[in-house]
Amino acid sequence: MQLFIDSANLEEIREVSRWGIIDGVTTNPTLIAKEGKDFRQLIKEICEIVDGPISVEAISMQGGEIIKEARGLSRIHKNIVVKIPLTKEGLKAVKVLSKEGIKTNVTLCFSATQALLSAKAGANFVSPFVGRLDDISGRGMDLVREICTIFHNYHFPTQVIVASVRHPLHVLEAALLGADIATCPFPVLEQLLKHPLTDIGIKRFLEDWEKIPKKRDKRPR
Ligand code: E4P
Repeated sequence: MQLFIDSANLEEIREVSRWGIIDGVTTNPTLIAKEGKDFRQLIKEICEIVDGPISVEAISMQGGEIIKEARGLSRIHKNIVVKIPLTKEGLKAVKVLSKEGIKTNVTLCFSATQALLSAKAGANFVSPFVGRLDDISGRGMDLVREICTIFHNYHFPTQVIVASVRHPLHVLEAALLGADIATCPFPVLEQLLKHPLTDIGIKRFLEDWEKIPKKRDKRPR
């Protein structure tokens, strides 16, 4: 399973890339706006940190305009994946861009039929937003299950990015369902790592180490 970080914050991206667990990055206009930096420069810097798919969202709404914008975004770096909202115009753009070899991530997916259409249009990735469904008493992970089944049934190459992840259980369930990718905010990646028994275990081992009689150097060689 691949893990992406859902962030445009350079410190967060740098930190998790040092952990050796990050395969890609997803951004959106909200995340970019939080950083208050020049858009293209910020994207270039992200591409220098992570060598994997970097999703950047197009903001145009008409097919032709989306295509033009996507071509421009894809020139920033070879790893750019253009995020395109799940609309009729978006699908038209995905079809053209897939023929040009420009990678697309169809975003704001809230139903399995939307995901099916994205795959048929030739999207490289589709992003079901599980947290936003849970927020309105939907079942985000049921959507992921349906999409994974459909893509498996028909051998669609489109990869599923579980997005709008709010907590570690979303990641665990995504992995159990066989979703290709989960994109997680930095705090969720930290939560995946932490376990109180690990901390208690380390504390106890270090305390016990102090009780061992040592002749010269205190530290093991
Ligand atoms: C994914 O590509 C989106 O950027 C993101 O996961 C949206 O998450 P949110 O619902 O927490 O804003």
